[in-house]
Amino acid sequence: MVGFWHDKRVVVGISGGIAAYKAPALIRRFREQGAEVTVVVTKAALEFVTRLTLQTVSDRPIYDDLFSLSQEQDMGHIRLAQEADLVVVAPATANLLAKMANGLADDLLSTLLLARLGPVLVAPAMNGAMWRHPATCRSVETLKSDGIAFVGPGHGSLACGDVDTGRLVDDTVIIEAGRRILEPNILAGRTVLITAGPTREAVDPVRYMTNRSSGKMGWAIAKAAVRAGAEVTLIHGPVSQPPIAGIQMIAVQSAEQMYHAVQDHWQVSDVAVFAAAVADYRSKYQATEKIKKEKKGNQLSVEMIQNPDILASVAQWRKEAGAGPLLMGFAAETGQALEKAQRKMVRKGCDLMVVNDVAEPGVGFDVDTNRVVVLDQAGRNLSWPLGTKNWIGTQLINVVARVLNGQGMDVMTEAPPDERVK
Ligand code: PMT
Repeated sequence: MVGFWHDKRVVVGISGGIAAYKAPALIRRFREQGAEVTVVVTKAALEFVTRLTLQTVSDRPIYDDLFSLSQEQDMGHIRLAQEADLVVVAPATANLLAKMANGLADDLLSTLLLARLGPVLVAPAMNGAMWRHPATCRSVETLKSDGIAFVGPGHGSLACGDVDTGRLVDDTVIIEAGRRILEPNILAGRTVLITAGPTREAVDPVRYMTNRSSGKMGWAIAKAAVRAGAEVTLIHGPVSQPPIAGIQMIAVQSAEQMYHAVQDHWQVSDVAVFAAAVADYRSKYQATEKIKKEKKGNQLSVEMIQNPDILASVAQWRKEAGAGPLLMGFAAETGQALEKAQRKMVRKGCDLMVVNDVAEPGVGFDVDTNRVVVLDQAGRNLSWPLGTKNWIGTQLINVVARVLNGQGMDVMTEAPPDERVK
């Protein structure tokens, strides 16, 4: 299957800092994912990493000389700058940032960067004091306002022995940042409603019934939807996930509260994704005072009544209104998951059903990974290997975007092995 980087042309620019020794791994990783990589190095960078290594990992000639007749004839700097889908500078030294910010072009890399009109991603790496120096801060500020994207630097132990901010971030982080820059806003102008997490059903003022949902799956979908350019509303039960910038977050406790929040938002949504683990039942009576064992003795019976089915209700309201959002439900099953989920999709009336067999290791509740199959009403299905919830969230948003655009479900993207399960 064809992955995101397949046939993308990436220029990796390497400037002269100790972190240049990590550049070959980045180049290799880009190539493993299908990118064509052209390497442009500064003379100083070649003090830290050899031409032979770079040539071997990129499987192409290395470019370092602005005045070389052969290099310029082979691939002029203007052409290099124009043809690449992305220019990544890793590591970017303080010196290179200062040159870029001031439009200096005294070697091939800085000249290429000055001639570049398309996206540029910069991954700085330097000593912490250099990173915080007012001159570097001014360079970074100028470059950001010029539209240059930054990733890192990270915090940790540096080559100089300090533990500080200034590390080159991991190659996977650089590649993901690059993907975000290039990824088209497939849900621009769309409104996405997502439910996530558990619900909490009170029994008395101190006790409640709930489930093991952490909200991680819903969070991953919300983040993928924001990245895809959607306006996102996330209605969630009690979880301990961090806030997501740029989205509307509505915190609820019980299934009934989630039901009312969804009722307020479904009509203005293009898509509604129901990743929440909503309690099917709640206590019929909620004691206003703590239930005392002195009063109840050896046995306590709690009479339960059914909660409203939020997904089925939205499907019904949509039917009555004759219009409404694309509905993606989730089915948490144990055993014969596909058959059960198929029946659930029909019963609830959603368009797509994401099935996870939560009895499998690494799947479902309160883990960072998941393995899902997406079913549609036409009997088609899509499945992916076990992957991080973040990765699965991105795939689900791709599916949603394609269905909204009338392109169907024939989307399968290959995850880099370490993105699938990390
Ligand atoms: O939160 P995590 O720890 O990351 O775990 C993720 C998850 C396992 C919770 C998630 O992947 C998942 O499967 N979510 C749905 C869990 C669930 O309640 O499934 P269900 O088969 O009981 O319900 C089917 C669908 O109906 C779901 O979309 C659910 O949100 C919806 N529902 C259920 C009951 C109800 N009263 N109202 C609903 O809307």
